[in-house]
Amino acid sequence: MDAQALTLNNIIEKNNQGILQMLSSKGKEIFFPKLGILAQSAQAKGKNINATIGEAVEDDGTSMHLPDFDPLINMPVGNIFTYAPSFGKPDIRDKWKEMIYKKNPSLNNQVISKPIATNGLTHGLSMAGYLFTQPGDTVVLSDLYWENYNLIFENGYGASVELFKLFNKTGFNLEAFKAKLNSVKQDKIVLVLNFPNNPSGYTPLTSEVELIVAEIEKLAKAGKKMVVIIDDAYFGLVYEQKVYPESIFVKLAGLNENILAVKLDGPTKEDYVWGFRVGFITYGIKNGTSELYEALENKTAGAVRGNISNISQLSQSLLFKVYQSPNYENAKKEKYQILKSRYEVLKKSLADSKFTEYFEPLPFNSGYFMCVQLSEGLNAESVRLHLLEKYSTGVIVFGSVIRLAFSAVPEAKIPELVNNLYLACKDISNR
Ligand SMILES: Cc1ncc(COP(=O)(O)O)c(C=O)c1O
Repeated sequence: MDAQALTLNNIIEKNNQGILQMLSSKGKEIFFPKLGILAQSAQAKGKNINATIGEAVEDDGTSMHLPDFDPLINMPVGNIFTYAPSFGKPDIRDKWKEMIYKKNPSLNNQVISKPIATNGLTHGLSMAGYLFTQPGDTVVLSDLYWENYNLIFENGYGASVELFKLFNKTGFNLEAFKAKLNSVKQDKIVLVLNFPNNPSGYTPLTSEVELIVAEIEKLAKAGKKMVVIIDDAYFGLVYEQKVYPESIFVKLAGLNENILAVKLDGPTKEDYVWGFRVGFITYGIKNGTSELYEALENKTAGAVRGNISNISQLSQSLLFKVYQSPNYENAKKEKYQILKSRYEVLKKSLADSKFTEYFEPLPFNSGYFMCVQLSEGLNAESVRLHLLEKYSTGVIVFGSVIRLAFSAVPEAKIPELVNNLYLACKDISNR
């Protein structure tokens, strides 16, 4: 193992032995190289002649670039064309951390790591997979989950995915959650929590969050090493009063030395910049010191460097600029209001009792989506195809569940969407 990785592992072990056990073999071996090219380039910064970096530079020292870009982007050249650090740009990392505290006031003074930039949340999930999962590990997910988790944790890192039933009759299925966690034999459990959930659009109520957290804590107290990967892709988009409004990271980040909370978040869905490809990984653990967090940040940035090198300079710069705009908060609220309004119209549209003959909505209160459970005997794929062909309406099918992305449908068309679903179900069941 490289001496730089060993140094990081020793720091981690000194601070919290359990985290070393949580790391995968790859996670133990990775490090951000402090020696070699990067160190030598850093030492040459500001020198009269700097022949170290792998970028092209004009005679006046600015980034070489094609002039056709100039009228397209109104930002200093240094914020557009150069490589960003593998850790992410320092200004946006600081800003994002400040925003995590602001958006999650109950974090109070809990010490957390500095966010490391990732290429959207997908890449953050993959980096978490790299660091904490390997063949033989179990990753626990709810049965309604973003399908990409399979590609990441199973195909990518060889872990086994185990599902618990997300819903009982009324809401979060705590019994199923508990039973699944308790069935894991290994000393380490990797748990993925995604609220607001894709595809269901469910976020646990504040009362449910307390119970979920208590179960995780129970296992940690019994000695299990809990890596809780928190996918906050749809953070902030909650539409009901009783729903827990902050990230569950808040509850886990300082709870127990056996619980490593790994928060994945980013502007993709929150700030409506799907194609920018910026996300963040942030760590929280009880008694986490800056030394421990720095070691984890180094490992994460090392994994990023060895994987995609770094994240778009332009995207990070654009976001940082917008986050400083005095209009940012209000503009964001306006977009939230549009989604909330669609949510409310959808709730109202679904309330018509005639629909229960063919489908029932699963619990939903947040996010971009909601799901309906089709009645027994109705084939969801046939309904989907019929919706496309006869009603010019596209939806997504998971088994016997249909997902409606109300985020993508104008409010005025939402009653029609629900009615089309009803009509398609009726046609199919009368065939
Ligand atoms: C639950 C969940 N996590 C992560 C992502 C991916 O986010 P990103 O586009 O930032 O990679 C998605 C996208 O659909 C998602 O639904």
